[in-house]
Amino acid sequence: MLCLGNAHRNGTMGIRSGTRSGTIIRHRQSKRTSRICFTFTLLLLMFTPRVDSSWWYIGALGARVICDNIPGLVNKQRQLCQRHPDLMQSIGDGAKEWIRECQHQFRQHRWNCSTLERDHTVFGRVMLRSSREAAFVYAISSAGVVYAITKACSQGELKICGCDGQKRGRASDEKGDFDWGGCSDNINYGIKFAKDFVDARERMVKDARALMNLHNNRCGRMAVKRFMKLECKCHGVSGSCAVRTCWLALSDFRRTGDYLRKKYNTAIEVTMNQDGTGFTVADQDFKGSTKNELVYVENSPDYCLTDRSAGSLGTAGRECDKSSRGPDSCEVMCCGRGYDTMRVQRVTKCECKFKWCCAVECQDCEDTVDVHTCKPHKRPDWLD
Ligand SMILES: *[C@@H]1O[C@H](CO)[C@@H](O)[C@H](O)[C@H]1NC(C)=O
Repeated sequence: MLCLGNAHRNGTMGIRSGTRSGTIIRHRQSKRTSRICFTFTLLLLMFTPRVDSSWWYIGALGARVICDNIPGLVNKQRQLCQRHPDLMQSIGDGAKEWIRECQHQFRQHRWNCSTLERDHTVFGRVMLRSSREAAFVYAISSAGVVYAITKACSQGELKICGCDGQKRGRASDEKGDFDWGGCSDNINYGIKFAKDFVDARERMVKDARALMNLHNNRCGRMAVKRFMKLECKCHGVSGSCAVRTCWLALSDFRRTGDYLRKKYNTAIEVTMNQDGTGFTVADQDFKGSTKNELVYVENSPDYCLTDRSAGSLGTAGRECDKSSRGPDSCEVMCCGRGYDTMRVQRVTKCECKFKWCCAVECQDCEDTVDVHTCKPHKRPDWLD
């Protein structure tokens, strides 16, 4: 955390000054910083509570997935890893995709789903709180595993699964009869494996947090299933579609991301029952079911300031939009601290012409735009 905070601050300074000496200074500092970082990380590792590291870290390991080297796997997960190393590869690739999706969904937010480099916790201490953000990350990560495994099954990359064998013979939809054909994505296998693997850690403890995570994990898995779609191919005289073969296919992961993002906005605050077997909705006027909703237990910090103990990186230096009224507006993003404005030249492609055949030729155009970035928090006078 400290490490990333520093790297970021130096990075911005380098860009701002834009000079060579800036870069050299940055290098020298980073050597020293990395030693401090190392010691700091060691200390952190010694004093961190259980929720800290996670299978999420598989994404950062790339091709080096060796089950004993992945920190934060519980026994059950380690066993699954040893039994199915090829599935771990898919989970790792999948992790990159759902983390990217998370960052896309929150790019205009104070909390932007940023990850910490070379850090087993992946998201840092933010996830220690049972907040709305944690609810989202658990849901999308478990959705990501379903998606990655299901896709890998269909592509024949895994020994243990393939296309959905249940989809045989005839069936019908609103357009009439069709034959199952091609390769239907085996979502049920994806869901089953994700449940075994992802939920394993939460099943080891019985507390409010585990209960919340299990609920949100399930929400994530179901979100992927919700967007399965029927794809068909027409046969018959000149595509008359007298005969159709169809298969069930995953939609783009963006659909799942958008859906879970909406669920984040309407997430429901709950309190856990005394005996730790269930939860009740905090708002007593709430009617309906929490079954398909994300739930959270603790309120979120405002993410305005850099707060290491809460894992908040703060919004100093973040870009904001002066004309927006949403969460990326300068007022909201900068938490009322104000912003700096910088004129920058941007090179864009322009006056593109289509050239026969087949190329597009563009010119480089320079234009000047104003970039607004949030001011840092003012230190109180008595500290100076
Ligand atoms: C997310 O926010 C942090 C600081 O709050 C910043 O360092 C990082 O560049 C941001 N990431 C993106 C993708 O905007």
